[in-house]
Amino acid sequence: MKNTFNVLGVAGSTRQGSYSTRALKIALEYAKKQGAEVRLLELNRIVLPLYDPSAPASKEVERAAEIIAWADAFILASPDYHGSMSGTLKNFLDHFYEEFAGKVFGYIVASHEKGLTVMDQMRTAVRQCYGWSMPYGVSVNGPQDFTGNETASAKSSSRLRMMARDLVVYGRLVRDQFIRDFGSNEADTFAAHYRP
Ligand SMILES: Cc1cc2nc3c(=O)[nH]c(=O)nc-3n(C[C@H](O)[C@H](O)[C@H](O)COP(=O)(O)O)c2cc1C
Repeated sequence: MKNTFNVLGVAGSTRQGSYSTRALKIALEYAKKQGAEVRLLELNRIVLPLYDPSAPASKEVERAAEIIAWADAFILASPDYHGSMSGTLKNFLDHFYEEFAGKVFGYIVASHEKGLTVMDQMRTAVRQCYGWSMPYGVSVNGPQDFTGNETASAKSSSRLRMMARDLVVYGRLVRDQFIRDFGSNEADTFAAHYRP
């Protein structure tokens, strides 16, 4: 069984100074303190083309695919756009929907409300891709929760720390069991569907 545990943060805001991306960076630091390896995929740096199932993979798609293959778990961070996740993040999920089975997902939303409908949408999409969702997410309200450049309010920091901790602990359990089931001959498992 692998000892390392890889967490990929996916930043779904393209805005300079994005609060959801700031919160994501903080969560990744906490995940690192829990012993995880972490990487950040900023969708305003690797700009994916609008998903077209009939198009050949572009260089950006190939680069992102390599990072996604590395990940054991994900933290998706999105702005609240009209109660929905950003189009950028949805486009990311459309591109890589086949890569999420057996992986655990945590969620961060930047919203002036609570971002609950945004989280519901992310969970729905991830469920359709056979990913496992954390039962709660972290919502940040930018102007209230962020004072300086990288610091969040004590309450937000504490929730981000809890989420990062739980993602690493529960994510490992799911990842390890998925690998065991995948490698066994047992027929009636979820992972059996992914054997070649
Ligand atoms: C097009 C658009 C739609 C938005 N819709 C909502 C909304 O429905 N509810 C809300 O609370 N905030 C809404 N906002 C505010 C953003 O969610 C908020 O500014 C958030 O901080 C953006 O995330 P970011 O800082 O990570 O870019 C909207 C902003 C934009 C630009």
